[in-house]
Amino acid sequence: MNSESDEYEDFAEIYDVFYGTLRDDIDFYCGLAEKYGDPVLELGCGTGRISIPLARRGYRVVGLDASKSMLEIFKKKLEKEPNEVRKRIEIIHADMRDFSLDKKFPLIIIPFSSIVHLTSLNDSLKAFTNAYNHLIKGGVFAFDVFIPKYEYITKRRRIEFYTRDTDEGKRLILWERAEYDLTNQLIHVDRLVEIVHPDNESKRYFWKTTLRWYTKSELELLLKLAGFNNIKVYGDFNLGEYRYEKGKMVFIAMK
Ligand SMILES: C[S@@+](CC[C@H](N)C(=O)[O-])C[C@H]1O[C@@H](n2cnc3c(N)ncnc32)[C@H](O)[C@@H]1O
Repeated sequence: MNSESDEYEDFAEIYDVFYGTLRDDIDFYCGLAEKYGDPVLELGCGTGRISIPLARRGYRVVGLDASKSMLEIFKKKLEKEPNEVRKRIEIIHADMRDFSLDKKFPLIIIPFSSIVHLTSLNDSLKAFTNAYNHLIKGGVFAFDVFIPKYEYITKRRRIEFYTRDTDEGKRLILWERAEYDLTNQLIHVDRLVEIVHPDNESKRYFWKTTLRWYTKSELELLLKLAGFNNIKVYGDFNLGEYRYEKGKMVFIAMK
């Protein structure tokens, strides 16, 4: 995805219905800000799910994202925040592979698997190199990313369907099909969501995207190539050991 094409255009409006209540990564990224300092640069900040809590806890944040529609939602959410939170946040519309800012940061983060949108090793290397160049000496780069289940990869397809009632009395219906392309290490996702309001009026949202899954050793090598050292990989946000079964990798690397 780049800053001209917006895969999240339709989905941005309901992104927070799905992910807005996730909490476990917020304390982790806030803890890094406490340890390594601010301003924090969040690449792929989306609707501000992590940036806003960081600013609420007193840290200055620069949120950068390639999707105008995700950033529009972020800006709307900010309007409801107190002035002191708003003034700690700067929002930038740009591609993490080729942005250039006139300042450097002690901490750069890419939460919630945003790197899977970088669908080639060349793209992820560009983003990592760019992050490296925007860090101060001794600065820290951290991100987390999912590990796909080999079960899905070998079946080459995952189909999901569920319905859920929201707190506002709406019904959410989701259909999703993911096709696993083993040759190119890509996942082609088609997601259709229907939100049915209490008066039975409904609206449909479509999200079509291509994601790349990454392995631990690929990411370690990419980080080394980008210049990072002291690369650590964990399996959860409590810095527990990395294990495939945990389904997640948490990376912390230093400049
Ligand atoms: C899964 S969302 C994560 C959003 C947010 N970090 C969170 O934790 O909720 C992925 C985000 O990465 C952004 N993104 C994808 N490719 C990007 C790129 N090349 N440059 C900047 N942002 C990108 C998308 O627009 C989207 O907002």
